[in-house]
Amino acid sequence: MRILITGATGTVGRNVIEQLRALDPGVELRALSRNPDAALPEGVELAVGDLAAPETLAEAFKGVDAAHFINFAGDQYAPLPDAGAVVALAEAAGVRRATVLGGRAEGDLEQALAASGVETTFLHPVEFMSNTLMWWAAAVKAEGAIREPFGDRVSAMVHPADIGAVAAKVLLDGGYDGRSLVITGPEAVTVQEKVRLLGEAIGRELAFVELTVEEAHAKWRGEGMGDDMIAFLTEALGNTPEEGKTVAPTVEQVTGRKARGFAEWAAEHAEAFR
Ligand SMILES: NC(=O)c1ccc[n+]([C@@H]2O[C@H](COP(=O)([O-])OP(=O)(O)OC[C@H]3O[C@@H](n4cnc5c(N)ncnc54)[C@H](OP(=O)(O)O)[C@@H]3O)[C@@H](O)[C@H]2O)c1
Repeated sequence: MRILITGATGTVGRNVIEQLRALDPGVELRALSRNPDAALPEGVELAVGDLAAPETLAEAFKGVDAAHFINFAGDQYAPLPDAGAVVALAEAAGVRRATVLGGRAEGDLEQALAASGVETTFLHPVEFMSNTLMWWAAAVKAEGAIREPFGDRVSAMVHPADIGAVAAKVLLDGGYDGRSLVITGPEAVTVQEKVRLLGEAIGRELAFVELTVEEAHAKWRGEGMGDDMIAFLTEALGNTPEEGKTVAPTVEQVTGRKARGFAEWAAEHAEAFR
């Protein structure tokens, strides 16, 4: 079996590759990247192509049985300009099974796959534990303090390895055609509890300083964040949907093993916060 992984150099894609390898060391893996020099795990074949330019994808889909898709193009996560053409190419090349990583909004890719003959499973992870690297590592190193709004906000955040594990199982074995799978961690944790767990993992007591929404906006603007991102974050953090704070049994149901908790993620990444 040959599987194409898009977004392969990103957080989720790297984990899809790792988990596919763990489940089936014999599976043939091909990774799509726009970068001809992309660094990939040993034995993973590189296909250079751009999801925003379907004409670059013919070679990537050749001989592929199953594909893991992202639904965006470019570093600002813009929707794919011609998702229909991407799916048509995949189907014509013989791809018969797909997983799709859900983003902020469903788009044409999901619709095109649903309307195609490709057996498709839609993956909907909640907040990634790994966002902590981007949001907190610099502040923890510099001052041992986290400054954020909404301190009692609760999140059922997920370990990216578990997103990879669900995708890998579905890509290899199928069984979830047409299903949407919400993927969460094993517990719903407040921000303050998350700060405590991270402090334990790195062996340093961390302070949490709760900001007002206005203070948070000023901080984020000062860090160069654009208005769209600020609006998205304010909504996502201040008004987290039920799905984002409710533990779902998906990881255990699909993979047969318990979801990884934040303490485990923090222990694995402790060095990045020291
Ligand atoms: N962070 C969260 O908490 C969270 C929660 C739920 C859902 N999500 C969703 O997860 C997705 C992001 O996944 P991620 O964090 O794994 O991504 P990421 O680490 O930001 O990496 C982006 C990946 O997309 C690839 N890519 C970008 N534009 C491309 C194009 N035009 N053609 C081909 N490949 C392209 C990049 O490949 P190259 O650069 O190698 O070409 C790279 O592998 C978004 O849809 C987001 O909404 C995130």
